[in-house]
Amino acid sequence: MEVPHRDVHTRRIRFTYPAGSLRRHYVDGDLVMSHVVAVLSATFPPGEDFFVRSVRRYADRVTDPELQAQVRGFIGQEVTHGREHVELNERLQEMGYPTRKVSAFVKWALEDAEKRVPGRLCLAYTAALEHYTATIAECLLSKPEAQRLLGDTEVRNILLWHALEESEHKAVAFDVYRAVGGTERMRRWGFRIMSVGLIGLVIGATKLSMAFTDRASYNPVRLLRSLWALRRSPFLARDVREQLRAYTRDGFHPDDFDNTELVERWRTELFGPDGRLRDHLT
Ligand SMILES: [Fe+2]
Ligand SMILES: [Fe+2]
Repeated sequence: MEVPHRDVHTRRIRFTYPAGSLRRHYVDGDLVMSHVVAVLSATFPPGEDFFVRSVRRYADRVTDPELQAQVRGFIGQEVTHGREHVELNERLQEMGYPTRKVSAFVKWALEDAEKRVPGRLCLAYTAALEHYTATIAECLLSKPEAQRLLGDTEVRNILLWHALEESEHKAVAFDVYRAVGGTERMRRWGFRIMSVGLIGLVIGATKLSMAFTDRASYNPVRLLRSLWALRRSPFLARDVREQLRAYTRDGFHPDDFDNTELVERWRTELFGPDGRLRDHLT
């Protein structure tokens, strides 16, 4: 298996959330989306730790120097994502979102899975979840209406940076899984199991978060308006669902969805000479 060259490198970056810079419903004033993004952000640090452990366990069996370099970049990127999301999660916790509880639950669930299933299935889980993050990331990067939904705060900045790097490294865990002889059957099962787990987690945790931490959830006008907007959310559009489902195709590869142009454009947009996040690099 020949792995094509991909530029996957770790950026040293820092995001800050000065006190008072985020209002309670920091995702453009939207009730449900603010809770969903908080749940996802709380899921990232334990999830990314799990990805790193799953890939690292097989890293010494990777012989292709190109893939070895990508694995190093992947680990560096995911470690940085985790660290920066911990920072955001602390701020969200102070604002009333139950990010600590969600993170603790996800950490427990993934460590429990690790004890019960073979390492190769953990790698299949990782590749599957990376397909989710890459698909959502590419939706965000390619649709202006998705970007508008995030408003104009530091949360938008961290999510754009995270999205770019998820798209940059989207094939790494997948290629490691293939390189160590993971089967198509296990890959598909890994995806099905993680789909149930992830969707169940996001819906369940969002409902609990809204019901127990936010009085605005009991305002019928706000709730209905927010649920109505969700129906037309670019993140739930048909193309997103199709890209997700494509993973179960025989012989699927993340590069089937070519991201070369998208990644190039956002590297310039965020980190080029006039990049909007250049001042965040340390
Ligand atoms: Fe990440
Ligand atoms: Fe990732």
